[in-house]
Amino acid sequence: MASQQRTVLISGCSSGIGLELALQLAHDPRQRYQVVATMRDLGKKEPLEAAAGEALGKTLSVVQLDVCNDESVTDCLSHIEGGQVDVLVNNAGVGLVGPLEGLSLATMQSVFNTNFFGAVRLVKAVLPGMKRRRQGHIVVVSSVMGLQGVMFNDVYAASKFALEGFFESLAIQLRQFNIFISMVEPGPVTTDFEGKLLAQVSKAEFPDTDPDTLGYFRDLYLPASRELFRSVGQSPRDVAQVIAKVIGTTRPPLRRQTNTRYLPLTALKAMDPSGSLYVKTAHRLLFRWPHLLNLGLRCLACGCLPTRVWPRQTEQN
Ligand SMILES: NC(=O)c1ccc[n+]([C@@H]2O[C@H](COP(=O)([O-])OP(=O)(O)OC[C@H]3O[C@@H](n4cnc5c(N)ncnc54)[C@H](OP(=O)(O)O)[C@@H]3O)[C@@H](O)[C@H]2O)c1
Repeated sequence: MASQQRTVLISGCSSGIGLELALQLAHDPRQRYQVVATMRDLGKKEPLEAAAGEALGKTLSVVQLDVCNDESVTDCLSHIEGGQVDVLVNNAGVGLVGPLEGLSLATMQSVFNTNFFGAVRLVKAVLPGMKRRRQGHIVVVSSVMGLQGVMFNDVYAASKFALEGFFESLAIQLRQFNIFISMVEPGPVTTDFEGKLLAQVSKAEFPDTDPDTLGYFRDLYLPASRELFRSVGQSPRDVAQVIAKVIGTTRPPLRRQTNTRYLPLTALKAMDPSGSLYVKTAHRLLFRWPHLLNLGLRCLACGCLPTRVWPRQTEQN
């Protein structure tokens, strides 16, 4: 391993953003990274290994890691020389959509176990080493839903809000140790993520949910969500490019949104600290003016609306 190479551990590389990021970093033309691409089920490693080509065994290794399991984290770190992780990318995550009344607490807790406590577990494992070396970078794949709530995504958004609060708090202390935190906030991304959610929703019956709520979910939310993915959805490759850029920066930003076409929606919250503008607009668009919502999404897709970056994305210095 070249002496300046940084070891990057990425969780959730069996598909989507994690897989693309692992490939991009492993194929870095300047060979700046040793990528430890992890996944909970090594039975899914074939697509990554095939796409890695010659990088496999040189700048990329594939290791088992279930972010919900302490033992798995310890075993994974034992595969890394000196257990030294220079860059940790908390990417593994699961979604959950549906009316609250129809979701069990156990299901909600499992989302937090993966999305929030999974990331916390990894940070606790690598942080002592980073602090000793007074160097490190922790990247979190958050979401625009870590910035603003979205109807019927209550628990998923809460898990991303939890990440945002946790890592923003930690970022203050860690500056003292020259360790950077970056939260990358994609909008909709066309990965297996949406497919898995739709499969889950099509099987679910949502017991104890009143007919009005179920109707809003099936007849308003689901079509709007499909349209959102279709119109402004990004490819996992594009999102991975943004993350790779954040990792390659000397003074990485605390927050980075990935999708300029989604910015008008997050701007609604940033523009009004009382929160009313966003909630009222989202409510009206979904319940009163769904045609306007569709038209707006089509405009966003064609790029005819101005996409000013707000809030300003500044470097962490
Ligand atoms: N797709 C979107 O629209 C979108 C938007 C914003 C943010 N994000 C975030 O982006 C991240 C990656 O999602 P994606 O879109 O690339 O979806 P994806 O293709 O479904 O990837 C999710 C990855 O997380 C893994 N995972 C789930 N539970 C795990 C666990 N306990 N331990 C280790 N790995 C686990 C999955 O592994 P298995 O194959 O074993 O399930 C998979 O590799 C997630 O944090 C997600 O919240 C996604």
